[in-house]
Amino acid sequence: MSVPTNHKKLIAWVNEIEAMCKPDRVEWCDGTKEEYDRHMNDMIESGLAVKLNEEKRPNSVLFRSDPSDVARVEDRTYIASRSKDEAGPTNNWIDPVELKQTMRELYDGCMRGRTMYVIPFSMGPIGSPIAKIGIEITDSAYVVVNMHIMTRVGTKVLETLGDEGQFIPCVHSVGKPLEPGESDDGQWPCAPIEQKYIAHFPEENLIWSYGSGYGGNALLGKKCLALRIASALAKREGWMAEHMLILRLTSPKGKQYHIAAAFPSACGKTNLAMLIPTVPGWKAECIGDDIAWMKIGPDGTLRAINPEAGFFGVAPGTSYKSNPMAMETIKENSIFTNCVLTDDNDIWWEDMNVEIDHGIDWKGNDWTPDSGTPGAHPNARFTTPAAQCPIICDDWEDPKGVPIDIFIFGGRRTKVMPLVHEAFDWDHGVFMGATAASEPTAAALDVKGKLRRDPMAMLPFCGYNIGNYWDHWFEMGDKLGEKAPKIFYVNWFRKNDQGKFIWPGFGENSRVLEWMCQRVSGEVGAIETPLGMMPRLEDLDLNGLEISQEEMEEILKVDADAFVSEFGDLDSFIDSVGDRLPKRMEQQITAYKARMK
Ligand code: GTP
Ligand code: SPV
Ligand code: MN
Repeated sequence: MSVPTNHKKLIAWVNEIEAMCKPDRVEWCDGTKEEYDRHMNDMIESGLAVKLNEEKRPNSVLFRSDPSDVARVEDRTYIASRSKDEAGPTNNWIDPVELKQTMRELYDGCMRGRTMYVIPFSMGPIGSPIAKIGIEITDSAYVVVNMHIMTRVGTKVLETLGDEGQFIPCVHSVGKPLEPGESDDGQWPCAPIEQKYIAHFPEENLIWSYGSGYGGNALLGKKCLALRIASALAKREGWMAEHMLILRLTSPKGKQYHIAAAFPSACGKTNLAMLIPTVPGWKAECIGDDIAWMKIGPDGTLRAINPEAGFFGVAPGTSYKSNPMAMETIKENSIFTNCVLTDDNDIWWEDMNVEIDHGIDWKGNDWTPDSGTPGAHPNARFTTPAAQCPIICDDWEDPKGVPIDIFIFGGRRTKVMPLVHEAFDWDHGVFMGATAASEPTAAALDVKGKLRRDPMAMLPFCGYNIGNYWDHWFEMGDKLGEKAPKIFYVNWFRKNDQGKFIWPGFGENSRVLEWMCQRVSGEVGAIETPLGMMPRLEDLDLNGLEISQEEMEEILKVDADAFVSEFGDLDSFIDSVGDRLPKRMEQQITAYKARMK
C-alpha cells in the first residue's frame, strides 16, 4: 500500500515503529465507510464480533472482551516525565529512559502475524485552532472502528497536517503476537496485567500503550491524549483540558447558559449531558459528554469545545427512563462491548427497563435473571456517533466553542455531602473541586475501597503534578476575572438507610441546574452555610416531584460534625501533595476548617 503523505517525520516514525513491532503488513487508515465496514465484516467473520439484528439495531455489533480486560488500569498507567516531582504524588512514575527500555522489549516483534494500522485523527473539528492532530499506530481493528466513531479519522487529517505539521504520536499494541499459522480464533487479544503499560511522556507529547484493547487504555485520543497529554500542554500554553461534559440550557425567557461539569468516571456525565429537563420551559442540548478543552476567547469568556466525535458511554443503567436521548443515539451504527446478547440478537444490560428471560452474558455463557451474576459487565460500554444524538447542539462543532457560565464538580457519596452548594468565590470553588471525593465505580479495574479524593475528577487523568494543576486553576481564575464561571458542587447519589437513592436524579437534576442558572442571573436566593451557599427549600422548584419534605431537608442539610470527622482524611490527602501545594489552597483549607468548627 502506498504511503498517503509526504510528511517526512511522520513517515520516519511509522517506519521506526514498524521495524520495532514487526507486523506482517502496514495499512494507513482513510476514515471511509468502506474501511469501517471491511474491518467490521472481518471481525464478524472471525468470530470476534457478533452482528446484531439488522431490523432492531441496524449496522451495529457486539464485542466481548477478555474477562481480564474490561476497564482502565490505573495501577499500570504512568506519567513518565523526566523528574518524578513533575509527575507528582497522584501519578505512577517510572524514569522515561527505563520505561522506554522495558516497553521496547515488549514492543519488539509484538505485531507479528498482525496488521499495523496507522490512524490519522483529529481531536476537535479538523482545522479548528483548538484542535490537535494525533496519529495512532495500533494492531487492533477494534481500535480502528472505535476511533472512526470517537474521533475524526482520515485523509483530511493528513491534508491538514501537510508536510510539516505537528502531531502527537500514539503507539498501541494489544501485546499478543501470533505464531505462523496461528489466529485469534475469535478471542479478544491482550497481554497479562503485569505486562500492561499505559505510558505518557508529557515532555515529548508521546503516548505508548501496551497490552490492553479496552476503552481508555487503547483508544488513545481519549484519556491519554485529550486529558493526560493535553492537560500538561494546556498548563504550558495557558488553557484547560478537563474531564467535563458540556451542555447548553435555555431558560423559558430564551437566555442561554453553558455548563461544564466534572464528575469522576461512571458518576453521571453522559446522563447529565443529555438530560431532558422536567422543569417546564427549560431546554437542554448536548455538546459533549466526557472531555472539555477550554481557552479564553477574544471576548474574555472561557470558550469550550468537545474534542471528541462520539460517546463511549456506560451501558448498564441506561434506559428510556433514565437517559432516553442516549437510547435514541444508540439505535444504530453503534458498537457495544461486554453487553448481553439477547435471543433475538439485540443487546441488553441491567436496569435497561426491559425484561428478558434468557441471553448470552458478557463472558459468552448462557444467562438468565436467576443466574446470580450480572449479565452485562458493570463497565460495559456503547460507542456511538455524537451526531446521532437527537439533542446534540446545532453548533456543537463550532470551532470557537461555547462560553462557559457554570462549572460543576461532584461525585458519588451515599452519605454526608448535600445535594448542591455554591462556591463563595473562585478560590473557594477551586478548593471544592480539588477536595472532591467519590465512591469507587467499575470504570477502573483496580480502584477499590470506600471513598477517594478525586480532584476535579482528574485524579487518573492529570498529566503532571497536581499541586501545579491547582495553581493553574487559580491562575485561570485570575485571568478570567469577572468573566470566570460560577462554581457549584452536586451530589445526586445520597441514599437512605434502606439503600435507596433519595434524590430521583436524571431529568429531575434540571431543578438543581435551574437554581444554578438563576443564581448566575441573580434571580433566586440562597443561604450561607459552612460549606457554601445553598438553596432554601423554597428556592428550588419542586413542583410535581415525589419527595417528602423530610427527605429534602435531609439532602440539604450540612452536618458539620460529619465534615469535621473527615478532617483527618482531608489532611492526609493535602499532606500527600507536598511542597507544591499552592498557598491559596492552604488558605482555603484553614478557612474551611474554621467555618466547620
Ligand atoms: P464515564 O463515561 O466513565 O466518564 O462515566 P459518566 O460520568 O459519563 O457516567 P454516566 O452518566 O454514564 O453514569 C454512570 C452510572 O450512573 C449509570 O449507571 C447511570 O445510570 C448512573 N447515574 C447517572 N446519573 C444519575 C443520577 O442522577 N442519579 C442516579 N441515581 N444515578 C445516576
Ligand atoms: C472513564 O473511565 O472516565 C471513561 C471510560 O470515560 S474510558 O474511556 O475507558 O476511560
Ligand atoms: Mn470519562
